[in-house]
Amino acid sequence: MSEAKTLHDAFLDELRDSYDAEKQLTKALPKMARAATSPELRAAFESHLEETRGHVDRLERVFESLDEKVRGKHCDGIAGIIEEGKSAMEEDFDEATMDACLIAGGQRAEHYEMAAYGTLVAWARLMGHKEAADLLQQTLDEEKAADKKLSSLAEGGINQQAADGAHPADDEEEDEDEAPARAGRGAASAVAKRPARR
Ligand SMILES: [Fe+2]
Ligand SMILES: [Fe+2]
Repeated sequence: MSEAKTLHDAFLDELRDSYDAEKQLTKALPKMARAATSPELRAAFESHLEETRGHVDRLERVFESLDEKVRGKHCDGIAGIIEEGKSAMEEDFDEATMDACLIAGGQRAEHYEMAAYGTLVAWARLMGHKEAADLLQQTLDEEKAADKKLSSLAEGGINQQAADGAHPADDEEEDEDEAPARAGRGAASAVAKRPARR
């Protein structure tokens, strides 16, 4: 009977998964930057692309610190997130909505990475792989900062701009709602049709 695999084997597996995920992201981020309208959002994706290239290099150093060959293993999780982002980019959204969707997709990727690196750092520390843990922690910190940056862009105007254009027929409808002629059953049913908006 072969011996059961250990946490160290699982750790190497997760490292290979993350290595592949980072490489996929170095291909996806330039497309997200190109699809962004907000100059700040484009700059955020471009600067995180640079960081992401650094994450690839850092993982290579992690493998070296463990005397392991540098190897990737296809990451289905990030592939799915990237695929969903691609579908959003193919939609005919207005500019602010596209930016809001790019942020939504970007944050899904960051949270996936934060979960992966959080685990890797914890496991590396517990198994005494200090150099690996320190390197992985640096990447984790950059993923968290990238996520915060995206939140601040969304909350700093992009979501509001998208929301302002969300119901193009509203101005007209509001006028109708306020008109005395609509004070009866017509107005009630108009309100009932869209209860959650305000
Ligand atoms: Fe990364
Ligand atoms: Fe990232």
